[in-house]
Parts: sequence; C-alpha cells; structure tokens
Amino acid sequence: MAATLGEDTHMTDSGSTAPPALNSTRGNWGGRFGFILAAAGSAVGLGNIWKFPYITGENGGGAFVLIYLICIALVGLPILIGEVMIGTATQRTGVPAFRTLSRPGSPWMGFGWMGVAAAVLLLSYYGVVAGWTMHYAWLSITGTFAGQDAETIRGVFGKVFSSAGLNLSWQLIFMFLTTLIVLRGIKGGIELASKIMVPLLGLMLIALMIKASTTDGFAQATDFIFGMHGDDLTPGGILEAVGHAFFSLSIGMCCMLAYGSYLKRGTNIVASGTAIAGLDTLIALVACMVLFPITFAHGMDPESGPGLVFMNMPVALMALPGGSFWATIFFILLFVAALTSAISLLEVASSYFIDDLNWSREKATIVCGLAITVLGIPSALSGVPEGIYSEVFFGKSWFDGIDWAVSNVMLPLGGLGVALFVGWRMSATLRREVFTAGSPTLASLFGGWLFVIQWIAPAAVIIVFLQAIGVLDIGMFFAEAPAAELDTATTTD
Ligand code: PFF
Repeated sequence: MAATLGEDTHMTDSGSTAPPALNSTRGNWGGRFGFILAAAGSAVGLGNIWKFPYITGENGGGAFVLIYLICIALVGLPILIGEVMIGTATQRTGVPAFRTLSRPGSPWMGFGWMGVAAAVLLLSYYGVVAGWTMHYAWLSITGTFAGQDAETIRGVFGKVFSSAGLNLSWQLIFMFLTTLIVLRGIKGGIELASKIMVPLLGLMLIALMIKASTTDGFAQATDFIFGMHGDDLTPGGILEAVGHAFFSLSIGMCCMLAYGSYLKRGTNIVASGTAIAGLDTLIALVACMVLFPITFAHGMDPESGPGLVFMNMPVALMALPGGSFWATIFFILLFVAALTSAISLLEVASSYFIDDLNWSREKATIVCGLAITVLGIPSALSGVPEGIYSEVFFGKSWFDGIDWAVSNVMLPLGGLGVALFVGWRMSATLRREVFTAGSPTLASLFGGWLFVIQWIAPAAVIIVFLQAIGVLDIGMFFAEAPAAELDTATTTD
C-alpha cells in the first residue's frame, strides 16, 4: 500500500523491499541516459571551467592533476555511488531519505538538513558568478571588447564586481531562468534542458579546444598539465584536490541523492556513477587544454588565480583571429555549465518541500527560487566599495565567507555523513541489492567499494576537514628539518 508522506515510512534494517511509493507528482527520469546527462550537467559547472584550471595552475600542473585523479577514483566516485544509492533505495530526497533508512527524528537526518542548507547557500552566490558569465557573454556578442586594449578589457572585471546594478540584475535573470527550468519538472524540465545543454557544452568545448590546439602555447600547455612539476605541489594542494573533487562531483549536499531518487530501483548505479565522474573529469581536463594554450600563447602566467577566466581569458581570446566569436563561445559555455549546475541546486531545495511537506512543484520551486535570489543579494553586493557586505566574517566578504563555509565545512561534512551512513548504518542487504543491481559482475566490486566507503573515504574527509578549519596542519609532517639540525647531524656522522 502506498504510504502517504506523513506516515512513518522507515525501512527495516533487514528489509530489502522497495520503499512505499510517494505521490506521483514528484516525477521520474525518462531513462538512465537522461539521469546521466542531468547528473553530469550538475557536476560540470563553474568548478570545472573556472576553478579547476586555476587551482591546477597554482599547484604546479601535472602532479596536482594526478593527485586529483586519484581523489576522484578513491574518494569522490565511491561517495557519489553512495549518495545515488540512498536516493534510489528510498525514492526520496535528502531529509526524508535519511529518515526512511533510519528512523523519524534520527540524528542522521541532520545530513539531509545540512544538504538543503548548503545547496541554498551555494546557489545564492553561484548565481552571482553565473551572472558575470552572462554579462561577459553579452559584451562579447555585442562586440564591446573588439578594438579595446588589454588593460581596458582586464578592467571590466573590477567594474562588474563593484557594480550593485550589474550584479543584481544579472543574478536576477539567471535565477529566473533556473527557476523556469526546475518548474517544468524532472523529465520535461531538468532532463530535457540537460539533453540539450550538456551536448551543446561538449560541442563548444571541443570547438574551443581545436582552436586552442592551433595556438603557439599548445605544447607548453600540454607539458604544464601532464608533466610532473612536483616542486609546486604542497600538502595544502593535496587537500585542495580532495575538497575540489567533492565540489566538482556535486557530492556532499544531497544533490546526487536527489537526482538518484528519480531513478528506478534496479538501475546500474555503479556504471552510471562512473560515467558521471568520468565525464566531469574529462571536461575539467579539456577545460585546461583550452585555457592554458590560449593564455600561454599570449605570454600570460597560468597562476593568475580566479582572474584567469574573467581577466586573462577575454584578453587572450580577443587576440585570436575572430576574437569576439571565440569569446562569445567561451562565455556561453561558462553560462551553460553554470545553469545545468544551478538547476540541480534549486532541485535539492525544492524537492524537500515537495517530498516532505507535500507542496506542489510550482509552489516549492517559486518559493525556493525567490528566497535564494534574495539570499544572494549580499553576495551580489560583496564587491561594492563602502558596501556593508565587503567585510562581514573576520575580514572576509559575505561572498567569500559563505563560499568558505560551504566548500570547506558543509561539503566535507556532508560527504562524511554519506560515507558513514552508507558504510555503517544502512541495511547491509539493501546496500548490496542496490549496488549490484543491473549487472551480475558488480558483485565482484562490492567488497572493494565497501572497504573504501567504510574506511578510506571517511579518513580522507576527516583529514581535509580538520585542515580546513585549522585544527590540523598536515604541512608539519612534511616540513624539512631545520638547517641547523641537519648541519649538526652531518658533522657528527
Ligand atoms: N559541481 C558544480 C561545479 O563544479 O561547478 C558545483 C555544484 C553543483 C556543487 C551542485 C554541488 C552541487 F550540489
């Protein structure tokens, strides 16, 4: 019998039965392919094209890329599979999913709440950065950059960052588009939009990569990204790789859990998760193969931080033949990547109200979309000189403070919660059943995955978390002995 939302619907520890169905208005993916594209759309975002290249630049290239790949395989992918597993097993989003698999009022539900809070906070400032991409796309389409010197183009970022009007209006337009897609539901909204936008994103990226491969900087860039320059890799860089793996795969905030909840029980979640993580990583690497050749060809430094995309790239792109065209493609690419991620964040928030409070999708999406837009106002105003939001948290702006809390505290804690819950609390029968669904060969991978999710992933996340909040400094374990001590040691030998 189908249970209603208010009933105690929790599944027993030994139970491997399907959970009671929710009301049919929550929606479902049309198929596994739609799920993979939507989840890949969520994973591929500003993190891949904006952040990954510049942290790779800051941490010395190839050695960092290698560590990042290991983090994705050993920590990211296993947790991604665990998150999708909770959603698929329960057919519910975060809070009710944890409740269903434990008990009403269980502290595990806290991870569901934190997921909703993190998604709301992240989207509140993600929308502002996405707004910048729209502004830059607009400037490129209208040919505004054409004929301007490098200093003027670089100066645009400062102007946008400090303008209340520009930030607020672009953020509003972006949030409006995001809300419009989520409003149309899972199959007709998120899945359809992803089926159009993710392939489009791939095509634009390939076109840009072909263009980048014709520039003088291509060989230098390949060596930088894939060559080993270990000297620049610090312990802090290793931790950054773990943290970024979470952000990039959209794990730790119940996003993959929510998307997994629209997937039919019996789907092969291991193959799907691997495809999602593979696409996300491939696109991050290709983004490097676009950004670095173009900036190197222009004699620019790869380690230019967040300004790489919004300051160096427009200058370098405009120096190419057909500059305005390439700049337009690049900023539309960034906008599309941001939009497919933003819809997943809004879905995390809306699905709570749909699943747990039985709101209609329309009401839930509009209320959440509006609330997040309002919450984003302080982020949009964080760069305004003399504004009240430029120094809020211990000298950090509202924008930077929220970014810090979400990326360094909420995401790792959320990921830890998923790993511990799936590894230690979830019913062993159910866990095995959902993991091995879809292919008999998966049984041979189960033991390895379980070991990782029970031990390796939690240990890695705890270390990253303690480092991020300043309790642990793993750098001290790698520190070289002071020169004086070394001298004494050598002379006494
Ligand atoms: N994965 C996205 C990116 O790389 O930009 C960001 C993100 C989206 C994080 C959705 C978390 C999430 F739930």
